[in-house]
Amino acid sequence: MIIMKKTIRAAVVGLGRIGYYFHLPEIKKHEMFEACAVVDVSDERLKEAKDKFGTQGYKTMAEMISAEHPDLVVIASPTHLHKEHTIEAMASGCDVFLDKPMAKNYAEVLEMAEAAERFGKKLMIYQPHRGRPETHALRQIIKENIIGKIYMYKRANVNYLRRSDWQSLQKFGGGMLNNFGAHYVDQALYVLGGDSVAKVKEINCMRHKIASLGDADDVAKILLRTTEDITVDVEINMACAHQVEPFMLLGEHGSVLMRVKEDGSQVFEAKYFVPSELSELSLSESLAAADRKYSQDQPISWKTKEYPILPEYDANYYDYCYEYYGEDKAPFVPLSQTVELMRILEECKNISRCSYDSSIKI
Ligand SMILES: NC(=O)c1ccc[n+]([C@@H]2O[C@H](COP(=O)([O-])OP(=O)(O)OC[C@H]3O[C@@H](n4cnc5c(N)ncnc54)[C@H](O)[C@@H]3O)[C@@H](O)[C@H]2O)c1
Repeated sequence: MIIMKKTIRAAVVGLGRIGYYFHLPEIKKHEMFEACAVVDVSDERLKEAKDKFGTQGYKTMAEMISAEHPDLVVIASPTHLHKEHTIEAMASGCDVFLDKPMAKNYAEVLEMAEAAERFGKKLMIYQPHRGRPETHALRQIIKENIIGKIYMYKRANVNYLRRSDWQSLQKFGGGMLNNFGAHYVDQALYVLGGDSVAKVKEINCMRHKIASLGDADDVAKILLRTTEDITVDVEINMACAHQVEPFMLLGEHGSVLMRVKEDGSQVFEAKYFVPSELSELSLSESLAAADRKYSQDQPISWKTKEYPILPEYDANYYDYCYEYYGEDKAPFVPLSQTVELMRILEECKNISRCSYDSSIKI
Protein backbone atom coordinates (compact mmCIF):
# COMPACT_ATOMS: atom_id res chain seq x y z
CA MET A 1 0.00 0.00 0.00
CA ILE A 2 1.34 3.42 -0.94
CA ILE A 3 0.85 6.01 1.80
CA MET A 4 0.57 9.49 0.32
CA LYS A 5 2.31 12.07 2.44
CA LYS A 6 0.28 15.17 3.11
CA THR A 7 1.60 18.53 1.94
CA ILE A 8 1.33 21.21 4.63
CA ARG A 9 -0.22 24.49 3.49
CA ALA A 10 1.66 27.19 5.39
CA ALA A 11 1.14 30.97 5.65
CA VAL A 12 3.83 33.38 6.87
CA VAL A 13 2.88 36.35 9.05
CA GLY A 14 5.47 39.17 9.02
CA LEU A 15 7.74 39.75 6.02
CA GLY A 16 10.75 41.22 7.81
CA ARG A 17 14.31 39.94 8.15
CA ILE A 18 13.36 36.47 9.31
CA GLY A 19 9.97 36.03 7.63
CA TYR A 20 11.11 37.16 4.17
CA TYR A 21 14.70 35.96 4.15
CA PHE A 22 14.31 32.68 6.04
CA HIS A 23 10.82 31.25 6.57
CA LEU A 24 9.26 32.03 3.20
CA PRO A 25 12.18 30.76 1.04
CA GLU A 26 12.58 27.66 3.25
CA ILE A 27 8.88 26.82 2.90
CA LYS A 28 9.00 27.45 -0.86
CA LYS A 29 11.90 25.08 -1.38
CA HIS A 30 10.61 22.26 0.87
CA GLU A 31 8.70 19.66 -1.14
CA MET A 32 6.33 18.83 1.72
CA PHE A 33 5.22 22.45 2.26
CA GLU A 34 3.19 24.82 0.14
CA ALA A 35 3.53 28.55 0.81
CA CYS A 36 -0.15 29.40 0.42
CA ALA A 37 -0.19 33.00 1.68
CA VAL A 38 1.58 35.82 3.46
CA VAL A 39 0.39 38.52 5.85
CA ASP A 40 1.94 41.92 6.47
CA VAL A 41 0.62 45.40 7.18
CA SER A 42 2.83 46.74 4.38
CA ASP A 43 1.40 46.70 0.81
CA GLU A 44 4.92 47.09 -0.55
CA ARG A 45 6.12 43.95 1.23
CA LEU A 46 3.07 41.96 0.14
CA LYS A 47 3.78 42.94 -3.47
CA GLU A 48 7.45 42.08 -3.11
CA ALA A 49 6.50 38.59 -1.84
CA LYS A 50 3.95 38.15 -4.65
CA ASP A 51 6.57 39.12 -7.28
CA LYS A 52 9.34 36.94 -5.86
CA PHE A 53 7.50 33.95 -4.39
CA GLY A 54 4.07 34.10 -6.06
CA THR A 55 2.26 34.19 -2.70
CA GLN A 56 -1.18 35.70 -2.16
CA GLY A 57 -0.93 38.61 0.31
CA TYR A 58 -3.30 39.77 3.06
CA LYS A 59 -3.24 42.74 5.39
CA THR A 60 -4.62 40.84 8.41
CA MET A 61 -4.43 37.30 9.66
CA ALA A 62 -8.23 37.07 9.97
CA GLU A 63 -8.69 37.80 6.23
CA MET A 64 -5.94 35.36 5.32
CA ILE A 65 -7.30 32.51 7.44
CA SER A 66 -10.88 32.87 6.24
CA ALA A 67 -9.74 32.89 2.60
CA GLU A 68 -6.96 30.29 2.71
CA HIS A 69 -7.59 27.96 5.68
CA PRO A 70 -3.89 27.08 6.05
CA ASP A 71 -2.76 24.05 8.08
CA LEU A 72 0.09 25.97 9.62
CA VAL A 73 0.69 29.64 10.41
CA VAL A 74 4.34 30.64 10.68
CA ILE A 75 4.57 33.75 12.84
CA ALA A 76 7.47 36.16 12.32
CA SER A 77 5.79 39.39 13.36
CA PRO A 78 7.29 41.78 15.96
CA THR A 79 7.56 40.13 19.40
CA HIS A 80 4.76 42.05 21.16
CA LEU A 81 2.31 40.66 18.56
CA HIS A 82 3.28 37.00 19.05
CA LYS A 83 0.67 36.29 21.70
CA GLU A 84 -2.22 37.85 19.78
CA HIS A 85 -1.21 36.28 16.45
CA THR A 86 -0.54 32.83 17.93
CA ILE A 87 -3.81 32.63 19.85
CA GLU A 88 -5.80 33.96 16.89
CA ALA A 89 -4.30 31.35 14.55
CA MET A 90 -4.89 28.47 16.97
CA ALA A 91 -8.43 29.63 17.73
CA SER A 92 -9.08 29.54 13.96
CA GLY A 93 -7.96 25.91 13.74
CA CYS A 94 -4.33 26.30 12.64
CA ASP A 95 -1.13 24.90 14.10
CA VAL A 96 1.60 27.47 14.75
CA PHE A 97 5.36 27.62 14.19
CA LEU A 98 6.46 30.76 16.01
CA ASP A 99 9.74 32.63 15.90
CA LYS A 100 11.62 33.36 19.11
CA PRO A 101 11.33 34.93 21.63
CA MET A 102 8.02 33.22 22.33
CA ALA A 103 6.49 36.44 23.72
CA LYS A 104 7.09 39.75 25.39
CA ASN A 105 6.94 38.28 28.89
CA TYR A 106 6.22 35.12 30.88
CA ALA A 107 2.57 35.96 31.62
CA GLU A 108 1.91 35.98 27.85
CA VAL A 109 3.84 32.72 27.46
CA LEU A 110 1.57 31.00 29.98
CA GLU A 111 -1.54 32.29 28.20
CA MET A 112 -0.25 30.97 24.87
CA ALA A 113 0.62 27.55 26.28
CA GLU A 114 -2.81 27.34 27.89
CA ALA A 115 -4.45 28.30 24.57
CA ALA A 116 -2.52 25.58 22.69
CA GLU A 117 -3.86 23.06 25.18
CA ARG A 118 -7.41 24.45 25.05
CA PHE A 119 -7.61 24.54 21.25
CA GLY A 120 -5.75 21.22 20.90
CA LYS A 121 -3.26 22.81 18.48
CA LYS A 122 0.46 22.29 17.96
CA LEU A 123 2.79 25.11 18.88
CA MET A 124 6.56 24.96 18.42
CA ILE A 125 9.04 27.80 18.74
CA TYR A 126 11.85 28.32 16.23
CA GLN A 127 15.05 28.09 18.31
CA PRO A 128 17.61 28.06 15.48
CA HIS A 129 20.75 27.65 17.57
CA ARG A 130 19.70 24.14 18.59
CA GLY A 131 20.15 23.17 14.96
CA ARG A 132 23.54 24.78 14.37
CA PRO A 133 26.68 22.73 13.53
CA GLU A 134 28.56 24.17 16.52
CA THR A 135 25.78 22.94 18.82
CA HIS A 136 26.07 19.48 17.29
CA ALA A 137 29.90 19.50 17.68
CA LEU A 138 29.73 20.59 21.35
CA ARG A 139 27.22 17.86 22.15
CA GLN A 140 29.57 15.30 20.56
CA ILE A 141 32.54 16.60 22.58
CA ILE A 142 30.55 16.32 25.81
CA LYS A 143 29.39 12.80 24.88
CA GLU A 144 33.04 11.78 24.30
CA ASN A 145 33.92 13.03 27.80
CA ILE A 146 37.39 14.16 26.66
CA ILE A 147 37.72 17.04 29.18
CA GLY A 148 36.12 15.24 32.13
CA LYS A 149 33.09 16.45 34.03
CA ILE A 150 31.97 19.81 32.66
CA TYR A 151 31.77 22.54 35.30
CA MET A 152 31.33 25.65 33.13
CA TYR A 153 29.90 26.66 29.73
CA LYS A 154 30.58 30.15 28.41
CA ARG A 155 28.87 31.74 25.43
CA ALA A 156 29.33 35.32 24.27
CA ASN A 157 27.90 37.41 21.46
CA VAL A 158 29.68 40.76 21.50
CA ASN A 159 29.44 43.74 19.19
CA TYR A 160 28.98 47.50 19.26
CA LEU A 161 25.57 48.32 17.78
CA ARG A 162 23.63 51.55 18.21
CA ARG A 163 20.22 49.95 17.80
CA SER A 164 17.40 52.28 16.93
CA ASP A 165 14.71 49.86 15.69
CA TRP A 166 11.62 48.45 17.48
CA GLN A 167 13.80 45.76 19.10
CA SER A 168 15.40 48.49 21.23
CA LEU A 169 12.07 49.32 22.91
CA GLN A 170 10.51 47.51 25.87
CA LYS A 171 6.92 48.08 24.73
CA PHE A 172 7.56 45.89 21.67
CA GLY A 173 9.21 43.09 23.66
CA GLY A 174 12.68 44.34 22.70
CA GLY A 175 15.93 44.23 24.63
CA MET A 176 18.81 41.86 24.16
CA LEU A 177 17.98 39.67 27.16
CA ASN A 178 14.71 38.72 25.45
CA ASN A 179 16.03 38.84 21.91
CA PHE A 180 19.38 37.00 22.09
CA GLY A 181 18.89 35.48 25.56
CA ALA A 182 16.17 33.35 23.96
CA HIS A 183 18.85 32.01 21.56
CA TYR A 184 21.84 31.49 23.79
CA VAL A 185 20.24 30.30 27.02
CA ASP A 186 18.25 27.77 25.00
CA GLN A 187 21.43 26.70 23.18
CA ALA A 188 23.34 26.32 26.47
CA LEU A 189 20.66 24.16 28.08
CA TYR A 190 20.39 22.05 24.93
CA VAL A 191 24.19 21.59 24.62
CA LEU A 192 24.42 20.53 28.27
CA GLY A 193 21.21 18.54 28.38
CA GLY A 194 22.16 15.11 27.04
CA ASP A 195 18.92 13.57 25.77
CA SER A 196 16.83 16.52 26.94
CA VAL A 197 17.75 20.00 28.20
CA ALA A 198 19.70 20.90 31.34
CA LYS A 199 17.61 22.06 34.31
CA VAL A 200 18.43 25.28 36.11
CA LYS A 201 18.49 25.67 39.90
CA GLU A 202 20.05 29.13 40.30
CA ILE A 203 19.60 32.30 38.24
CA ASN A 204 21.64 35.52 38.26
CA CYS A 205 21.66 38.40 35.82
CA MET A 206 22.96 41.95 35.31
CA ARG A 207 21.77 44.26 32.53
CA HIS A 208 22.69 47.66 31.13
CA LYS A 209 21.46 49.99 28.43
CA ILE A 210 24.56 51.57 26.87
CA ALA A 211 24.67 52.06 23.11
CA SER A 212 21.03 51.52 22.20
CA LEU A 213 18.82 54.54 21.46
CA GLY A 214 15.78 52.80 22.92
CA ASP A 215 14.76 52.08 26.52
CA ALA A 216 15.52 48.33 26.59
CA ASP A 217 18.72 46.58 27.68
CA ASP A 218 21.54 46.02 25.18
CA VAL A 219 23.97 44.33 27.59
CA ALA A 220 22.99 41.24 29.57
CA LYS A 221 25.19 38.99 31.66
CA ILE A 222 23.37 35.81 32.60
CA LEU A 223 24.79 33.34 35.13
CA LEU A 224 22.92 30.11 35.74
CA ARG A 225 23.71 26.99 37.74
CA THR A 226 22.28 23.73 36.48
CA THR A 227 21.12 20.87 38.66
CA GLU A 228 24.33 19.07 37.54
CA ASP A 229 26.32 21.96 39.08
CA ILE A 230 27.44 23.43 35.77
CA THR A 231 27.83 27.21 35.64
CA VAL A 232 26.34 28.68 32.47
CA ASP A 233 27.79 32.09 31.63
CA VAL A 234 26.02 33.86 28.77
CA GLU A 235 27.17 37.33 27.78
CA ILE A 236 25.17 39.33 25.28
CA ASN A 237 26.88 42.63 24.80
CA MET A 238 25.99 45.15 22.13
CA ALA A 239 28.25 47.85 23.61
CA CYS A 240 31.72 46.31 23.44
CA ALA A 241 34.41 47.42 20.99
CA HIS A 242 36.50 44.24 21.23
CA GLN A 243 35.73 40.62 20.56
CA VAL A 244 35.83 37.83 23.16
CA GLU A 245 35.78 34.03 22.87
CA PRO A 246 32.34 33.08 21.53
CA PHE A 247 32.35 29.62 23.15
CA MET A 248 34.23 27.94 26.00
CA LEU A 249 33.57 24.63 27.64
CA LEU A 250 35.49 23.90 30.84
CA GLY A 251 35.90 20.46 32.35
CA GLU A 252 37.90 18.91 35.19
CA HIS A 253 40.55 17.66 32.72
CA GLY A 254 40.75 20.49 30.18
CA SER A 255 38.84 22.99 28.14
CA VAL A 256 37.47 23.59 24.66
CA LEU A 257 37.36 26.74 22.57
CA MET A 258 36.53 27.70 19.01
CA ARG A 259 39.44 28.34 16.63
CA VAL A 260 39.57 29.60 13.06
CA LYS A 261 42.01 27.58 10.94
CA GLU A 262 44.28 28.98 8.21
CA ASP A 263 41.81 27.86 5.52
CA GLY A 264 39.08 29.89 7.28
CA SER A 265 37.17 26.87 8.61
CA GLN A 266 36.10 26.81 12.26
CA VAL A 267 36.92 24.01 14.65
CA PHE A 268 36.60 23.36 18.35
CA GLU A 269 39.93 22.63 19.96
CA ALA A 270 40.08 20.53 23.12
CA LYS A 271 43.16 20.95 25.32
CA TYR A 272 43.18 18.18 27.92
CA PHE A 273 45.24 15.77 29.99
CA VAL A 274 44.82 12.10 30.71
CA PRO A 275 44.31 11.77 34.51
CA SER A 276 46.40 8.56 34.75
CA GLU A 277 49.39 10.50 33.37
CA LEU A 278 49.41 13.13 36.14
CA SER A 279 52.34 13.01 38.57
CA GLU A 280 51.82 11.91 42.19
CA LEU A 281 50.89 14.89 44.36
CA SER A 282 49.79 15.04 47.98
CA LEU A 283 48.22 17.80 50.03
CA SER A 284 50.51 19.50 52.57
CA GLU A 285 49.27 21.49 55.58
CA SER A 286 52.77 22.79 56.34
CA LEU A 287 52.75 26.58 56.94
CA ALA A 288 56.08 26.88 55.13
CA ALA A 289 55.28 26.09 51.51
CA ALA A 290 57.97 23.77 50.17
CA ASP A 291 60.63 25.64 48.15
CA ARG A 292 58.47 28.79 48.59
CA LYS A 293 56.42 27.62 45.59
CA TYR A 294 52.67 27.52 45.11
CA SER A 295 52.66 24.07 43.59
CA GLN A 296 54.85 20.99 43.65
CA ASP A 297 53.18 19.60 40.56
CA GLN A 298 55.16 18.45 37.52
CA PRO A 299 54.32 20.15 34.21
CA ILE A 300 51.09 18.71 32.82
CA SER A 301 51.38 16.87 29.53
CA TRP A 302 48.67 18.66 27.57
CA LYS A 303 47.16 17.08 24.50
CA THR A 304 44.99 18.69 21.85
CA LYS A 305 42.28 17.38 19.58
CA GLU A 306 40.30 19.21 16.92
CA TYR A 307 36.60 18.78 16.27
CA PRO A 308 35.41 20.12 12.91
CA ILE A 309 32.26 22.23 12.81
CA LEU A 310 30.65 20.70 9.77
CA PRO A 311 28.08 22.58 7.67
CA GLU A 312 26.22 19.32 7.00
CA TYR A 313 25.06 19.45 10.62
CA ASP A 314 23.19 22.68 9.96
CA ALA A 315 19.68 21.37 10.57
CA ASN A 316 16.89 21.82 8.05
CA TYR A 317 14.28 23.13 10.45
CA TYR A 318 11.41 22.55 8.07
CA ASP A 319 12.25 18.83 8.11
CA TYR A 320 11.71 18.97 11.88
CA CYS A 321 8.54 20.96 11.26
CA TYR A 322 7.28 18.32 8.86
CA GLU A 323 8.00 15.54 11.35
CA TYR A 324 6.05 17.37 14.03
CA TYR A 325 3.17 19.01 12.17
CA GLY A 326 2.86 16.51 9.29
CA GLU A 327 3.84 13.18 10.81
CA ASP A 328 2.85 13.71 14.44
CA LYS A 329 6.32 12.88 15.72
CA ALA A 330 7.77 14.48 18.85
CA PRO A 331 8.61 18.19 18.41
CA PHE A 332 12.30 19.10 17.99
CA VAL A 333 11.64 21.94 20.46
CA PRO A 334 9.01 20.82 22.99
CA LEU A 335 6.77 23.67 24.12
CA SER A 336 7.42 22.92 27.80
CA GLN A 337 11.15 23.59 27.24
CA THR A 338 10.47 27.01 25.71
CA VAL A 339 8.05 27.85 28.53
CA GLU A 340 10.83 27.06 31.02
CA LEU A 341 13.33 29.11 28.97
CA MET A 342 10.98 32.09 29.12
CA ARG A 343 10.54 31.62 32.88
CA ILE A 344 14.32 31.81 33.27
CA LEU A 345 14.51 34.98 31.14
CA GLU A 346 11.69 36.56 33.16
CA GLU A 347 13.52 35.76 36.40
CA CYS A 348 16.70 37.27 34.90
CA LYS A 349 14.76 40.44 34.12
CA ASN A 350 13.24 40.62 37.59
CA ILE A 351 16.52 40.24 39.47
CA SER A 352 18.49 42.67 37.29
CA ARG A 353 16.39 45.71 37.98
CA CYS A 354 17.65 48.74 36.13
CA SER A 355 16.84 52.38 36.60
CA TYR A 356 15.98 52.65 32.89
CA ASP A 357 13.59 49.70 33.14
CA SER A 358 10.12 51.21 33.29
CA SER A 359 8.47 47.79 33.46
CA ILE A 360 9.95 47.08 36.87
CA LYS A 361 9.34 49.00 40.10
CA ILE A 362 12.58 49.52 41.98
N1 LIG B 1 15.14 33.14 14.82
C1 LIG B 1 15.95 34.11 14.46
O1 LIG B 1 17.15 33.91 14.26
C2 LIG B 1 15.37 35.49 14.32
C3 LIG B 1 16.04 36.46 13.57
C4 LIG B 1 15.43 37.70 13.42
C5 LIG B 1 14.21 37.95 14.04
N2 LIG B 1 13.61 36.98 14.79
C6 LIG B 1 12.33 37.24 15.45
O2 LIG B 1 11.32 37.36 14.45
C7 LIG B 1 10.40 38.40 14.79
C8 LIG B 1 10.41 39.45 13.67
O3 LIG B 1 11.69 40.06 13.66
P1 LIG B 1 12.32 40.69 12.33
O4 LIG B 1 13.73 41.00 12.66
O5 LIG B 1 12.03 39.85 11.15
O6 LIG B 1 11.49 42.05 12.26
P2 LIG B 1 11.43 43.14 11.08
O7 LIG B 1 11.35 44.46 11.73
O8 LIG B 1 12.53 42.91 10.10
O9 LIG B 1 10.05 42.79 10.34
C9 LIG B 1 8.82 42.77 10.99
C10 LIG B 1 7.74 42.59 9.90
O10 LIG B 1 6.47 42.42 10.53
C11 LIG B 1 5.55 43.26 9.84
N3 LIG B 1 4.42 43.58 10.72
C12 LIG B 1 4.32 44.59 11.65
N4 LIG B 1 3.12 44.55 12.22
C13 LIG B 1 2.44 43.50 11.68
C14 LIG B 1 1.15 42.94 11.87
N5 LIG B 1 0.27 43.49 12.73
N6 LIG B 1 0.79 41.88 11.11
C15 LIG B 1 1.65 41.33 10.23
N7 LIG B 1 2.89 41.81 10.00
C16 LIG B 1 3.28 42.88 10.73
C17 LIG B 1 6.36 44.49 9.42
O11 LIG B 1 5.72 45.22 8.39
C18 LIG B 1 7.65 43.80 8.97
O12 LIG B 1 7.57 43.38 7.62
C19 LIG B 1 10.85 38.93 16.16
O13 LIG B 1 10.12 38.30 17.18
C20 LIG B 1 12.32 38.54 16.23
O14 LIG B 1 12.78 38.33 17.55
C21 LIG B 1 14.16 35.77 14.93
